[in-house]
Amino acid sequence: MCGIVGIVGTEFKIDELVDDLQKLEYRGYDSAGIAYVQNGIIHITKTLGRIKNLKEKIKPVNSYVGIAHTRWATHGAPNDINAHPHTDCTGKIAIVHNGIIENYVELKEFLKENGHKFKSDTDTEVIAHLIEEYFEGDLYKAVLKAVNELKGAYAIAVMHADFPDLLVAARKGSPLVLGKAKDRLILASDVTPIIKYTKDVVFLEEGDIAVLKDGEYKITDSNGNILIRKVYHIEWDEAAAEKSGYKHFMIKEIFEEPEAIESALVGRITKEGPSLNELKEIDLENIEKIKLVACGTSYHAALVFKYFVEKYADIDIEVDVASEFRYRNINIDDRTLVIAISQSGETADTLESVRIVKKKGAKVVAISNVVGSTITRESDITVYMNAGPEIGVAATKTYVNQLVVLYLLGMNILRIKGIWNNELNRDFEFLKSSPGFFREVLQNLNIEDFASYYKNYNHFMYIGRGINYPTALEGALKLKEISYINATAYPAGELKHGPIALLDPTFPVFAIAPQGYLYEKIKSNIEESKARRARIVAVTNEGNKDLLKIVDDLIYVPKAPDDMYPLIMSPVIQMFAYLIADMRGYDPDKPRNLAKSVTVE
Ligand code: G6P
Repeated sequence: MCGIVGIVGTEFKIDELVDDLQKLEYRGYDSAGIAYVQNGIIHITKTLGRIKNLKEKIKPVNSYVGIAHTRWATHGAPNDINAHPHTDCTGKIAIVHNGIIENYVELKEFLKENGHKFKSDTDTEVIAHLIEEYFEGDLYKAVLKAVNELKGAYAIAVMHADFPDLLVAARKGSPLVLGKAKDRLILASDVTPIIKYTKDVVFLEEGDIAVLKDGEYKITDSNGNILIRKVYHIEWDEAAAEKSGYKHFMIKEIFEEPEAIESALVGRITKEGPSLNELKEIDLENIEKIKLVACGTSYHAALVFKYFVEKYADIDIEVDVASEFRYRNINIDDRTLVIAISQSGETADTLESVRIVKKKGAKVVAISNVVGSTITRESDITVYMNAGPEIGVAATKTYVNQLVVLYLLGMNILRIKGIWNNELNRDFEFLKSSPGFFREVLQNLNIEDFASYYKNYNHFMYIGRGINYPTALEGALKLKEISYINATAYPAGELKHGPIALLDPTFPVFAIAPQGYLYEKIKSNIEESKARRARIVAVTNEGNKDLLKIVDDLIYVPKAPDDMYPLIMSPVIQMFAYLIADMRGYDPDKPRNLAKSVTVE
């Protein structure tokens, strides 16, 4: 997803701006560019491909103001011309943008009629010309007028050649954060580039316009009224966002899982049981329906919640991917709770789903990893997963922490409803000890040999049943997104209704098969697969010798309560995918065509 950085203040080296932009690489991008002012002229350097290409192209110069951008193409192919920043006809106004302008065709027509000449195929360039159209000596006023005509989503940063001490920014639908450091003001799409300068940040809200000048920022609404926005203190330090000696962020983040879980549990374990203070305002006792909405990995975490909670309570639980949910007619009443899960807190479809159900009067609980992100601000309550920054595009520790928080949430609801039994007690005890179990799993997970063998296959079938089915989905997603192997997942009982036709010695099966309550069922499905001469790798619990006779490769995790296998098996499926991607020569941190934070529909 596009990333924006802007700096204004005392003289700085252009390289610094590019270094700051690099902190946003993890968002995924196809091209990058910067603009700065020197001797009253805007200079622009942009390039297709990586930021390191941009670094090679830039001159060693200084400026007082600059904007930079990583682009993830939506309108117009990824190339040098469509890369940001974009300029107006005079070349005096430069802009970077994240989002999509829905009425750009109409605006372009209008601007063309007024004599504007366009260089790119982007929707963004329209904004530059619109600001030029309205510019009468005051950049802020021109931006204000221009954004009032935009439909769609945007976070923009704008500069003008004649004002090397000024940046104007605006946000609607796409995130933008401001920080005030000693020698500069900095704005960015998220806090990662800012924390090296300051840990106190302001998140622009919908419709905000900010003027950054003379070491201060001023924020107004779209009518020009001054607004005061809360300053958030960010705990993460820069080192937390570095690789700390690991080859990739993804593997580092898998190894951070025990600590991440500890952070998710802090303050949420009481003598009475699981307790999420955040939920105090919600009448959980009377909740009869729960709707969970999420995308990608977060959707898989939501499915685990459904299997877990519905096992114990007669609550009507529905899970949907946000891009479907937002276009359905969702029935909400005062006994419905909506849970929106998004590690980034910015996913466009999930955000829109939140807006839709809020309009219908639903209470929304967000589960997110990013403090102050849009979904958290628009939901009634947020339960943070506290996983720390996750840089690898493929979610790992945030998935684990989503599960932890969702188990806590589920237990909390059940406890308040008066539903508690020995099985739940065992689950809770396991959850509390899970950091230790994770350390054990990560220490003993020697699956390089398996991975090196399986890396040569072009297809994979993941199977699971019941609460272990979402693990199959997540395992297949991890493998396909970073190793580009065609991995698919099925509830094991569905194999015989079609997908079993695919199985043969070239199509291995990855079975999620702990000795839980559906163990005998999945064992039969493994046998069925074996009969089609598919090679089988399975993950099961320690002490299970049963499968040794059937499967080709077996991976063990500690014995756990039935409900908890999705948690303890997560590092296995993640590591398996990581090793295969790495062995196939791909960079697991930056999978092709994918973005970590998908802020467009
Ligand atoms: C993108 C990412 C996935 C992620 C999904 C939802 O597709 O590549 O890893 O699971 O978005 O993201 P969210 O931030 O809403 O959890």
